[in-house]
Amino acid sequence: MSTQRLEEVRSSFLADLESAGADAEAVEKVRIRYAGRRSGLLNELTAHLRELPNEKKRDYGRGLNELKKEIEAKLTEANMAVRDTVVNAEPGQIHVKGHPSTVSVGTAESRIDVTLPGTPLARGAEHPVHLVRRRIEEIFLRMGYDVEDGPEVEDDWHNFEALNIPPDHPARDDQDTFYLADGHLLRTHTSPVQARVMERREPPIRIIVPGRVYRRDSDLRHSPMFHQIEGLLVDEGITVAHLKATLETFLHALFSDEVDVRLRPGYFPFTEPSAEVDISCIFCGQKGCGVCSGSGWIEILGSGMVDPRVFEAVGIDSERYTGFAFGLGLDRVAMLVYGIPDLRQLFAGDQRLTRQFA
Ligand code: DAH
Repeated sequence: MSTQRLEEVRSSFLADLESAGADAEAVEKVRIRYAGRRSGLLNELTAHLRELPNEKKRDYGRGLNELKKEIEAKLTEANMAVRDTVVNAEPGQIHVKGHPSTVSVGTAESRIDVTLPGTPLARGAEHPVHLVRRRIEEIFLRMGYDVEDGPEVEDDWHNFEALNIPPDHPARDDQDTFYLADGHLLRTHTSPVQARVMERREPPIRIIVPGRVYRRDSDLRHSPMFHQIEGLLVDEGITVAHLKATLETFLHALFSDEVDVRLRPGYFPFTEPSAEVDISCIFCGQKGCGVCSGSGWIEILGSGMVDPRVFEAVGIDSERYTGFAFGLGLDRVAMLVYGIPDLRQLFAGDQRLTRQFA
C-alpha cells in the first residue's frame, strides 16, 4: 500500500516534469510541489515513514530514497535544459519566464566576446577645397582681415545692381544665373557680400568672404556650384600699390615666394581700373606646359579698385574713401595645388579622393 504510494508520486512527478518542458517557471513549480522544503510531497512521504510498522519500514525507506534521488536527478536535468534554451536562443530574443528581465545572450557561437578588438572606424579627411579655404583665411586673418558671410539665395540688387551691373548690362550674360520663381536668384559670385557689408558698416573695412556660388555651367572646368573667396579693403588713401602689395603677399604665402605675380588690365563692372592677376607657372617654371597652355602664366584672380558707383550705391562717400577688391575660385586653386584634373571630381563625394588628404 505504501510503496504503491511511492509509485504514484513517481509517475505523477514524471508526467508533471514532462509537461513543464524547458519552461523555467513550470520546472520551478514542479520542484516546489515535489521537493519543496516545507510542503513538498517528498516531505510528506518521509513523515509517513514514522507511522509505518517496523517490518514495512525497510522496503518503504529504500523505495523513498530511490525516489528522492530520481527526483533530484530529473530536476537537475530539467534545469540544464532550461539553461540551454537560454544560451542557444537568438541574441536578444529570450524572455525567461519567472526571470525578472529579458536575458540578452547570443547562441553559444555568436555570444559577444568583449575582449575581441573592435571594428575599425574609417577616419574622415578634410575636403581639398576646405583645406585651401582655411589656408587662405589664415593668410588674411594674419593681415588683420575679418571673415564675412552672406546669403546664397540673393536678390538682384546685391548680386548685380549695387555692383554696377544694371539689367541690360552684357556682364549678366557671362554669368548664367539660376533664377528663382520669386525673383530671387542663386548668387553667381561672392561679390554681393561686399555690397552687404558696405551697406551696414563704416570704413575702414577689411574682409574676406569665402562661400558657394552658382552658375548654369557644367564641364571639365565648370560645375553648377563652386566656391569663391572675395576680398575687400576700404579706407582713406588706398591705392593700386596697396592692392598689388596685398596680392603679392597673399600669392607668395599661398604658393611660394618664388612665384612671380603679374597684373594685366582687365574689366569688371564693379572695379575701375580692373586687373586680372597671373602667377608664373608653378609646374614648368615658365618653360610652358599643359597647365599654363604653354604661356608660362596661370590666371589666378580678378581684382581692381572699387568703382565709385559701387560706393554710391551702398552709401559710402567716394570722395573720402577708396578701396580695392578681388575674387578668386577656390576650386581652381585646389585643382592647381593638388593636381586634380577634373573639377567635377571635387564634388562627386568619392572618398577615394578625400581620403588622400587625411
Ligand atoms: N566676382 C568676380 C567673378 O565672379 C570676381 C571678382 C573680380 C571679384 C574682381 C572682385 C573683383 O571683387 O574686384 O568672376
